[in-house]
Amino acid sequence: MKALVLSGGEGTRLRPFTYSMAKQLVPVANKPVLVHCLENLRDIGIEDVGVIVGGHAAQIEATVGDGSRLGLRLTYIRQEAPLGLAHCVALAADFLGDDDFVMYLGDNVLADGIAEAAEAFHERRPDAQVLVTKVADPRQYGVAEVDADSKVLALVEKPSAPRSDLAVIGVYFFTAAVHEAVRAIEPSARGELEITDAIQHLVDAGRTVTAREYEGYWKDTGKIDDLLECNREILARIAGTAADREGAEVDAESILQGPVVLGPGARVVRSKLTGPLVIGAGSVITGSSVGPYTAVGRDCVLEDSGVEDSIILEGAAIKNVRDLQSCVIGRWAQVQKPVTAASGSRLIIGDHTRAEVMA
Ligand code: TTP
Repeated sequence: MKALVLSGGEGTRLRPFTYSMAKQLVPVANKPVLVHCLENLRDIGIEDVGVIVGGHAAQIEATVGDGSRLGLRLTYIRQEAPLGLAHCVALAADFLGDDDFVMYLGDNVLADGIAEAAEAFHERRPDAQVLVTKVADPRQYGVAEVDADSKVLALVEKPSAPRSDLAVIGVYFFTAAVHEAVRAIEPSARGELEITDAIQHLVDAGRTVTAREYEGYWKDTGKIDDLLECNREILARIAGTAADREGAEVDAESILQGPVVLGPGARVVRSKLTGPLVIGAGSVITGSSVGPYTAVGRDCVLEDSGVEDSIILEGAAIKNVRDLQSCVIGRWAQVQKPVTAASGSRLIIGDHTRAEVMA
């Protein structure tokens, strides 16, 4: 069995970060979402992974390389424009051949792995298997209508009157039957080759498509609030024992509470760290209060500041600002109190940035 990871796309909902980085490389608990995904694939014994990449291809290759560090063989497949999930399958047809494969959206986190889902697919071996989860408002999702035997009767994209509360999530298991379906469908109204249309085509052709409920934690990290929620969940699972702080320095005036992970070379001076939290290698935290539920990337500087429930990316600096909450702060960004007491707030922020400033 092979895997196809979708790591292209525009990521418009995650701007401004996606102007300069692939959304699959945005870190959750200091690990790129894409790495969470690749680890899940490795854990079910997959070796060969095709990775669809778009405009940020070079960064993705620089981060995960040939996959050998993760025990995988990665083959990069370039998609010139985000023409849809089924378009990705068509592009990968040569790579996939006649093999069964699992298609994994590279911005989805399934924190409890996909071993049970893979097993169910191997045992029952339908032509395709989708993973579903119960959601409160199915109108925002692709929804599966299933019979008592978990066979999919219909897939409906963002239904206004949903007939089920089972949302299709970003991991699909396919046999080679999907290729014919992908060739048969036409682009949708939004100009994309939709995977829901390809799966519906399989259903209409009398093929067996099953739905398997995912019991673990799942999140599509394509929006800021979902990204932060996912960060909280993954951080809540960290151990944060003394062994997770090797090579870091914490002075006697600092207080650590709860699970705290510090990367090598991190320094904590006169600060209060409340786990769960992770602080990356080489970051320096002075006179600050950090956490809970905060991931600080590598080489960041926090001085006389306070931050909780946030994701701070590599190289960012925060100085003299208390009460930061639910923030996502980009690489090498600087956040600080105005330099003189007389100055008002000064914002130098990029396109599509959002700032909520204390009045
Ligand atoms: P989406 O979140 O549906 O699309 P997007 O990345 O364009 O995001 P936005 O709506 O914010 O602009 O994509 C799901 C995953 O599939 C994500 O990892 C990107 C990837 N993808 C591709 O690789 N190629 C494609 O043509 C599309 C549509 C998505």
